[in-house]
Amino acid sequence: MIDTKIIEIDPQNIDSNKLMEAAEIIKTGGTVAFPTETVYGLGANALDEQALKKIFKAKGRPSDNPLIVHIANIEEIHHLVKEVPQKARLLMERFWPGPLTMVFKKSEMVPSIITAGLDTVAIRMPSHSIAQALIQLAGVPVAAPSANLSGKPSPTQARHVIEDLKGKVDCIISGGSCSVGVESTVLDVTEEIPMILRPGGVTLEHLQEVLGQVSTDRAIEGDDEMIPKSPGMKYTHYSPKAKVIMIIGDVSDIVETIHQMKLENEIKGFKIGIMATDETKDHYGNAVVLSMGSRNRVESIAENIFSVLRMFDEKGVDLILAEGIESKLIGHAVMNRLMKAAGYHVIKAGR
Ligand code: TXA
Ligand code: MG
Repeated sequence: MIDTKIIEIDPQNIDSNKLMEAAEIIKTGGTVAFPTETVYGLGANALDEQALKKIFKAKGRPSDNPLIVHIANIEEIHHLVKEVPQKARLLMERFWPGPLTMVFKKSEMVPSIITAGLDTVAIRMPSHSIAQALIQLAGVPVAAPSANLSGKPSPTQARHVIEDLKGKVDCIISGGSCSVGVESTVLDVTEEIPMILRPGGVTLEHLQEVLGQVSTDRAIEGDDEMIPKSPGMKYTHYSPKAKVIMIIGDVSDIVETIHQMKLENEIKGFKIGIMATDETKDHYGNAVVLSMGSRNRVESIAENIFSVLRMFDEKGVDLILAEGIESKLIGHAVMNRLMKAAGYHVIKAGR
């Protein structure tokens, strides 16, 4: 057991003495969990192999799953990558700092433990005030996966991190909830046509505005024949303890099907959780119903999705029936995470 230091910091009014303490831990080879605009990350010096090993150990993360390197200034990228393609420059101008991670050909400087032996490295410049200031103060690039135990939903509040990693990491910065709520978009810019390896905070539609053509790794849309290019996407992930089934289709068909499934499974003695939306949550009677947010404001759904998945664990349900939403804009990332939580167990409602 490690004695985990918990430091509270107000993102609106950063106490730099407190943050310096956390930066010092990163500088000296320790691990620090910190908030970003997407989810909390578990950071360590990206150039220190011993420190990086601690990240994998704390999370129980398979060593073939590479880490994202976080930077605070655009110039830092030149040490870490072989080249910055023109298309990537355009994207950096438009979306950095923010929830976009780009995959480049790596430089010699990047330890192979970060890239899990790949010849590419994923880089992101977060916009969260605490993340930026922490990386700046640490004075090194910071490798940071999401600060959850491997396989669990990503943490969007400090208490989620404390639940998963207290006693396993050197420090946790408690700095409020994450506003985007799903992780960054991972985009491979080494290809002529950049490819989305993981949908996230920056949407396909936004990327298309800048690039015109953007492709999507077919493996992440549930195509069983394909091996995802982003190693992390192949694992069952975002999974609460309960089994999850996704129901997709028109909203009224979804509600009817879930209602039916609820009755069938209650008879078998299962405790049912329903992952609903503001518009539908009152239609299910006496079940554990939690709303992800409003269908009219899909950003709210993104913001809540991981904490709602965690809440079902607290309520001890056996089976979660999750409503599908429209897979456009940030809804694409939400559906991707729900599909993975459900292990691609999807039922089409209606007809
Ligand atoms: O929003 C985020 O990206 C958060 C915050 C903390 O920044 N981080 C995050 O990291 O989600 P992680 O480790 O949970 O997910 C990183 C994803 C994994 O799917 C990993 O396989 C992929 O990025 N990845 C990392 N390096 C890669 C590379 N060189 N090529 C392809 N995929 C890569
Ligand atoms: Mg993760």
